[in-house]
Amino acid sequence: DNSALGYSVGTTLDRFIKMKQDDFPFASGELSQLLRDIALAAKIVNREINRAGLANIGGAFGQTNVQGEEQQKLDVIANIRFTRALTKGGEVCAVVSEEDDEVIDLQNNSGKYVVAIDPLDGSSNIDVNISIGTIFSIYRRVTPLGSPIQPEDIMQPGNKQVAAGYVLYGSSTMLVYTTGHGVNGFTYEQSLGEYFLSHPDMKAPASGNIYSVNEGLYNQMSNGLQSYINHCKENNFSARYIGSLVADFHRNLLKGGIYIYPGTTKTPNGKLRLLYEANALAYIAEQAGGKATDGHERILDIMPTSLHQRTPLFIGSEKLVDEAKTFLSEEA
Ligand code: AHG
Ligand code: MN
Ligand code: MN
Ligand code: MN
Repeated sequence: DNSALGYSVGTTLDRFIKMKQDDFPFASGELSQLLRDIALAAKIVNREINRAGLANIGGAFGQTNVQGEEQQKLDVIANIRFTRALTKGGEVCAVVSEEDDEVIDLQNNSGKYVVAIDPLDGSSNIDVNISIGTIFSIYRRVTPLGSPIQPEDIMQPGNKQVAAGYVLYGSSTMLVYTTGHGVNGFTYEQSLGEYFLSHPDMKAPASGNIYSVNEGLYNQMSNGLQSYINHCKENNFSARYIGSLVADFHRNLLKGGIYIYPGTTKTPNGKLRLLYEANALAYIAEQAGGKATDGHERILDIMPTSLHQRTPLFIGSEKLVDEAKTFLSEEA
């Protein structure tokens, strides 16, 4: 309706960041600038994605990453674009990326922030034109500015995040992020090159009837989880799983639901990575009134021990996550 249009057209990301600047008095604008740097890189990646089929940048790159996955060309392109934007932006001292084995030291020890990023989430969906995303987590470095970065700057628990967000390259391209004062969603208007506030103060419905899990893993799931999946089927849930975490998460955030990537007999810690998938979405989920757990503890309280460590993930509407946990505890 007109007021919503007026509201969204009236508030660009830039203006919103400025308006919200007073939410964190300690910052002297570096975090705002960092968010702008990420938003700019996302515009560039969005354009590459939209023309991938035509510019021969679809398909496999021809190398495997530290995850043992076959990198897609757009994985590599997105990784370069975001890392370059963060380097040029000057606010970041180190980057942890899904696509780089080791921490990327930006040789900028006066950079206040550390960024963990999944440059392109849902790579298996690139060539079949299904929504994909980018996920990012922002931390303040804990060792003195000007000194070399240390492991403790990188291995921080999710509860130390100062900001987190995702980009969803879907039917429209959206940027959703939090700086600890709620969650706001912006829709990208390609013809103007601007993001406009379209989803102010996003709240996760307390419950819902959507469950998202790769049912192909059913036989490798614990008895407790199998009984939870059956509970969903017996209570006329809808099964919605498109294999792009960002898209599945975003739909469930808007409509209510639970996304599960469990530990299995073959992969006890599941598939998703703590530093640049689970932590960022867990921060957003909680800021929107939802929950995120590994089945035992709060995702944000997990103390990382290795860069690319994986964690089981149960995330979404509070009531559904709590309910899933009771089924899991029954198995014990
Ligand atoms: P990525 O493409 O960044 O490696 O992440 C893929 C993840 C996530 O996006 C998705 O939900 C999940 O992998 C799908 O895994 P399965 O194909 O095993 O269901
Ligand atoms: Mn991957
Ligand atoms: Mn991913
Ligand atoms: Mn990825």
